[in-house]
Amino acid sequence: MAMIAPSLLSADFACLEQDCRTCLDAGADFLHFDVMDGHFVPNISFGAPVLASLSKKVSAFYDVHLMLTDPLAYVPMFLKAGASMITFHLEADSPVQETIDAIHAGGAKAGVVIKPATPAAAAFEWMPKVEMVLVMSVEPGFGGQKFQPAALEKLSALRAEAVRIGRPDLLLQVDGGVARDTAPLCAAAGANVLVAGSAVFGTADPAAEIAFYKGL
Ligand code: DX5
Ligand code: ZN
Repeated sequence: MAMIAPSLLSADFACLEQDCRTCLDAGADFLHFDVMDGHFVPNISFGAPVLASLSKKVSAFYDVHLMLTDPLAYVPMFLKAGASMITFHLEADSPVQETIDAIHAGGAKAGVVIKPATPAAAAFEWMPKVEMVLVMSVEPGFGGQKFQPAALEKLSALRAEAVRIGRPDLLLQVDGGVARDTAPLCAAAGANVLVAGSAVFGTADPAAEIAFYKGL
């Protein structure tokens, strides 16, 4: 059974609290919180103050995806704001082990993420040290893009490596263009956490969408 992490990037920011509750009531496992700095990616979304306000009102597993050039510098403020897990890019500038350690020291789970051009093998050495690996199936920065099928091979390679190192249940997340047609392919390739933004919030019935992904 796949877990589903609706991406709040596609929610209505004027009623974030309600949109979070709708997702949770429908059985969403994580709430995916996309943070962009306008530097690592060419877009700006929301930051720690928004997470702090939300996490005070809505109890959930906050899955924070940092698209930042220097994630380590921002880890403390996201921990304080209520992040349950913090995932950062291997392509960013921060030292990887130090960033993982800072996340763990704050009591959160840690994840590493790779962009489409980064091979799966780049994440192998970090797999024993993190709770999740995230494969981007679009260039990070914007919701609503088309799924890149090359992500499927990467998911398979990462799942095989997870099995090889004795962590068959490692969280393996896929993010970007996940929809009713692509989600089953991702699950078959080994993803067990599906991020979906526009596919959930771009429909009239987000709860029905969430139920579909949970059933995979
Ligand atoms: C993109 C973000 C995604 C985004 C996915 O950089 O990391 O989480 O919200 O949006 P969809 O599901 O619409 O591709
Ligand atoms: Zn994301």
